[in-house]
Amino acid sequence: MNTTTPTFAFIGAGRVATALARTMSHRGMPVTHVASRDPQSAARLAADLPDCSPVEPARAAAADVVFLTVPDDDIAAVAAQLPWKSGQMAVHCSGATEISVLDPAARAGALTGGFHPLQIFSDPELAERRLAGSFVAIEGPPPLAARLQEVAGLLEMRVLHLPPGARARYHGAASFAASFLVSMLEEAAAIWASFGVGEDDALEALLPLAYGTLDAARSKGFAGALAGPLSRGDADVVQGHLRDLDRLGAGHGALYREFARRQLDLLERGGRLDQARLWPMRELLGNEGKS
Ligand SMILES: NC(=O)c1ccc[n+]([C@@H]2O[C@H](COP(=O)([O-])OP(=O)(O)OC[C@H]3O[C@@H](n4cnc5c(N)ncnc54)[C@H](OP(=O)(O)O)[C@@H]3O)[C@@H](O)[C@H]2O)c1
Repeated sequence: MNTTTPTFAFIGAGRVATALARTMSHRGMPVTHVASRDPQSAARLAADLPDCSPVEPARAAAADVVFLTVPDDDIAAVAAQLPWKSGQMAVHCSGATEISVLDPAARAGALTGGFHPLQIFSDPELAERRLAGSFVAIEGPPPLAARLQEVAGLLEMRVLHLPPGARARYHGAASFAASFLVSMLEEAAAIWASFGVGEDDALEALLPLAYGTLDAARSKGFAGALAGPLSRGDADVVQGHLRDLDRLGAGHGALYREFARRQLDLLERGGRLDQARLWPMRELLGNEGKS
């Protein structure tokens, strides 16, 4: 950024703010102020950034571009309390919350929008290393979208433009590629525990399989990546899975059936299984789980 470089501030000094502010600052975007509910959180993050001061939220809101990185449920209340000015940019980083939550800023003449990094921030240092190459969903009026696109470019992030009203679907769907992947691994580990494999050992053994599957999806697409008994039409193997998972209870069989049915649809759409092998599998999976 050059002489017209805007100033940036973060209100809410948590995981997303830490990863974004540090990376933006390293890449020449001046993060001048940080505020948070707990002044110590703001002081910790500001100490990590050159020429940045921990301040009260009202003072941070004087920057040209203000990121509201508070929990989703707090965005509206925080936005409503700040002294916005015409021409400022007010941005939240939520995937699920609509931009209208920033209407108090819009009423004061600020441009309002969203900058949702499609990445997991449970470990901010790891997230920082993964920002480059990750996508970010941008929403906002053209001047704000252009500014956020510039930020994304400097972070080497790829841009996804969200139309108004799509955020709940966009974000709900992304759960399948994020925290539900963890739930899948935990499901496998819970079943392995029934024959004595500990959680840590299970995770260690399952992760290379999971990474291999993700690599196959990248290189061969959804239908092409599928392997295993469903993709081969091995009905006897699937029957054995169902028998033992139903015996184990805890909904394991029902969950298996749900995903297996979706996978059969994908195999059919991808032309991977002919009707003669599809129908016996559909009959096998058609009943709801017994547990
Ligand atoms: N975590 C993810 O993987 C992820 C990914 C993409 C987007 N997001 C989005 O990013 C936003 C921030 O999430 P996060 O995970 O960074 O949350 P977080 O780690 O919980 O951090 C939120 C921060 O906001 C501060 N805060 C809470 N209420 C406040 C208030 N009323 N005024 C000022 N500061 C307040 C918190 O308190 P203290 O000051 O007490 O520390 C904390 O520092 C959310 O909209 C979330 O949906 C999260």
